[in-house]
Amino acid sequence: MPKYLITGVAGFIGSNIAHALIARGEQVRGIDDLSHGRRENVAGLLNQFDFREADITDLPSIRSACEGVDYVLHQAALGSVPRSLDNPLASNHANVVGTLSVLQAAREYAREAVEAAKHTQNQRLIARAYVWRGLTSCNSFFNDTEDAKNCCDAANSMLRAVDYDDLWEVLRMLIQNIILQ
Ligand SMILES: NC(=O)c1ccc[n+]([C@@H]2O[C@H](COP(=O)([O-])OP(=O)(O)OC[C@H]3O[C@@H](n4cnc5c(N)ncnc54)[C@H](O)[C@@H]3O)[C@@H](O)[C@H]2O)c1
Repeated sequence: MPKYLITGVAGFIGSNIAHALIARGEQVRGIDDLSHGRRENVAGLLNQFDFREADITDLPSIRSACEGVDYVLHQAALGSVPRSLDNPLASNHANVVGTLSVLQAAREYAREAVEAAKHTQNQRLIARAYVWRGLTSCNSFFNDTEDAKNCCDAANSMLRAVDYDDLWEVLRMLIQNIILQ
């Protein structure tokens, strides 16, 4: 079952996503420093998901929050244009440094996952790790098509035609993303 990390989980959008995912029976972890969000937004869910009160710009915290998750839904932010004009450094730190920290942690884990999977010598597991690393590499931020193609080739060579399952669907998504770049 996939695991989701929601940043800014105590905020308006993050908490609504958390309610929707948990109602669907998904596994959810959430991170929020409660600087502007409200604990009450997720109060009814606290025993149903892994809530961490932490700052996304703190690298150890975001690295630990990203560990073992399949999807990162990044909603943590300091909103409000007037606020950003009053205190541009604070908005820049939360929104720019924060987003970069989340992306960096996701990319590091995508790379580590391939290396960890190789130790198992399980071809499907390695192929899966390559597919997810490829999807991370070719997102619109990293735009690393070359790494994505290499991951795609590696995954393709490990999957047998008989193994038609969800992994092929994700591989197809990776191929489409590469073509669109
Ligand atoms: N609400 C809307 O209608 C709307 C519309 C379009 C886009 N957005 C965007 O969606 C995102 C979320 O919006 P929202 O309305 O849920 O905002 P919100 O203020 O309700 O939630 C943001 C959450 O991020 C948390 N946060 C801020 N800095 C943090 C940090 N450094 N570490 C950890 N947590 C931190 C806050 O405590 C808060 O809980 C923002 O990027 C916003 O611009 C919102």
